[in-house]
Amino acid sequence: MALRTTMDTNSLNLTHNIDGPTNLDGEKQTFQMKPKTVLVTGSSGLIGSEAVEHFDRQGHQVHGVDNNMRQVFFGDPGDTTWNLDRLRAISRNFTHHNIDIRDRIALETLFHAHHFDLIVHCAAQPSHDRAREIPILDFEVNALGTVNLLETTRLYCPEAVFIFLSTNKVYGDAPNEIPLKELETRWEYDRPEDYNGINENCRIDRTLHSLFGASKASADLMAQEYGRYFGMKVCIFRGGCLTGPSHSGVELHGFLSYLVKVAISGGTYSVFGYKGKQVRDNIHSHDVVRAIEEFAANPRCGEVYNLGGGRENSTSILEAITNIEHRMGKKMNWKYVEQNRKGDHICYISDLSKFRSHYPNWRITRSLDTILGEIIAVQSRLQTAASGG
Ligand SMILES: NC(=O)c1ccc[n+]([C@@H]2O[C@H](COP(=O)([O-])OP(=O)(O)OC[C@H]3O[C@@H](n4cnc5c(N)ncnc54)[C@H](O)[C@@H]3O)[C@@H](O)[C@H]2O)c1
Repeated sequence: MALRTTMDTNSLNLTHNIDGPTNLDGEKQTFQMKPKTVLVTGSSGLIGSEAVEHFDRQGHQVHGVDNNMRQVFFGDPGDTTWNLDRLRAISRNFTHHNIDIRDRIALETLFHAHHFDLIVHCAAQPSHDRAREIPILDFEVNALGTVNLLETTRLYCPEAVFIFLSTNKVYGDAPNEIPLKELETRWEYDRPEDYNGINENCRIDRTLHSLFGASKASADLMAQEYGRYFGMKVCIFRGGCLTGPSHSGVELHGFLSYLVKVAISGGTYSVFGYKGKQVRDNIHSHDVVRAIEEFAANPRCGEVYNLGGGRENSTSILEAITNIEHRMGKKMNWKYVEQNRKGDHICYISDLSKFRSHYPNWRITRSLDTILGEIIAVQSRLQTAASGG
């Protein structure tokens, strides 16, 4: 049952404007937030930086927390300094804090100094393969870091809207139990009732998650609890493949971004198992932030939503490679590794019906082709600049 918040959403001072203007994407601007103070964790990462840009552009005070730990997880290719520099150059009301979300004292000092109306929590160790080598660090960042933020919010600004970026890996490999059929270039759901993909009723326990999936599931449950038990305005988005041009894509995280990076550099991409026909649904970071914005305007308590590109933005790896080759006019080097990644989904498409029904104003605005075009343009520029061209 949907648990509608009983709190006065006007306490957030959000104004509702049903017949608002239309932006360049043709999206109805149905609400505008009065200037607010927004905290974004993981602000130099893909989703965090998109959120910073978006809310800064709207005139809000935006604080970002990021300690560039992506570089610790993935080495220099994961370094997000370029993205922080970019944000500093284009923003007007953005303040960066080099804080580790595991450091509760530092978070308390930050929350003591600023009253946040909206918290967008994107900081994470995001790779299920990497988690195997760093289980303690993975759990500390993903689970404990999230509880630190939830609890600090409860203590300092309990009326704030709190958005947690969870993952479809909380379902573990349960989605792989759905009967599939093999098509020429992709796996496909066999039963008509599965056509729209995985909904939020999929079970999250008694499956193989990977350690990453388990640490995120812990955080996901705690976030739900702060919403349901304490009545806080908490939203949990279980992401499919979140993507966009600001990803510091690496082999272990950032599927499309890394694929394009390899295609441009002339390196070799490894496809792990499932004949390369595994399906991912890809959503542009802009559409993720628009979902965050919609929830913030009309929050609920402890609600969970699947959020991905849905069927229209789904692709198999084989199809993505063909698409990129076509766009770049050259063949890509890739090799097939028989062993699939442990806990990997064979066919995952997010069923977006629940979010769409609660927030009918929201829609996917960036097609897979648009997403790929953007990533190719940005990666080409970055690689040309890096080679001194
Ligand atoms: N990208 C995807 O495909 C995807 C899919 C599902 C869910 N998600 C989730 O969405 C969120 C955002 O993902 P993303 O793709 O933007 O990740 P990202 O790695 O691009 O960004 C995360 C940022 O958090 C920062 N960070 C990590 N640990 C930190 C710490 N201890 N303290 C402060 N900052 C820290 C990193 O430096 C990085 O800049 C994550 O929670 C991730 O699990 C992502």
